[in-house]
Amino acid sequence: MTEKYAVIGNPIAHSQSPLIQEAFAKQAEQDLSYEKILASLDGFAAKIHELIALGYKGVNITVPFKLQAFQLATKLSQRAQYAGAVNTLSFNGAEILGDNTDGAGLVRDIEHNLNIQIIGKRILLIGAGGAAEGVLHPLLACQPALLVITNRTLAKAEAMANKVKAQEATSVCACSLEELQAISFDIVINATSTGLSETALPLPAHIFAKDCLAYDMMYGRETSFMALARTHGARVVDGLGMLVEQAAEAFFVWRGVRPATATVMHAIREGIKKKG
Ligand code: ATR
Repeated sequence: MTEKYAVIGNPIAHSQSPLIQEAFAKQAEQDLSYEKILASLDGFAAKIHELIALGYKGVNITVPFKLQAFQLATKLSQRAQYAGAVNTLSFNGAEILGDNTDGAGLVRDIEHNLNIQIIGKRILLIGAGGAAEGVLHPLLACQPALLVITNRTLAKAEAMANKVKAQEATSVCACSLEELQAISFDIVINATSTGLSETALPLPAHIFAKDCLAYDMMYGRETSFMALARTHGARVVDGLGMLVEQAAEAFFVWRGVRPATATVMHAIREGIKKKG
């Protein structure tokens, strides 16, 4: 019998997840369906219970429901606990298992697809919202030499850094955008939502070390962060690889099979180009 999965968000029309998951299912010869579901802003929990009653096996969660999914889960993976948010739910009888595959997706894109090992690198993480929280621990688990968190609101970056300081071997600290004067980084990750509004971040040129990777977690278009990093000679990448890899990790959580991602990434990229 075809097993049912979905992605839930608000808005949801733009989601690429069905294309990605259907491609994985075809590749792995798995009999499953995957659809987009719009939940009303105050109707998330009710929608989840409705889907469970209809026999759905799991769902991906996107904006703005990742925190609600975290609260709704009856059991959380370690990485969901670290992230404080859930992007993947699995339904097993009365149990709602919450997981977070975002950080694993980012790390897999950097290490496997881009072939850059994080161990020993100096990382600048820009942003201290949900997107940054979601990738912090998975990045630290790769043992960079240094991880600096910077954010427009410094107190939020400091709170994030303080939470992990006691747990990890890597040197972690927070500083304001203005304080980034003396250090350069091997990997600079934009985890802010500035790409949505096209606001330029006030980043000094020297933060991009020679051969620096500048990674924007947004995908599908050139953000002002990407344009700036390109001007300063960085290798610039958008978050499409992360999008596909977090989906692959969710597929693995649900189905126990790790799909190959290169052809799917290519197809999604081509689809975005065609839409212009
Ligand atoms: P998300 O879930 O995408 O991370 P969020 O939790 O609202 O969304 O976090 C947005 C992040 O982008 C924050 O780090 C935010 O900085 P503040 O904590 O100071 O709000 C950052 N951000 C949003 N707009 C920004 C701007 N115009 N300039 C700099 N940073 C911005």
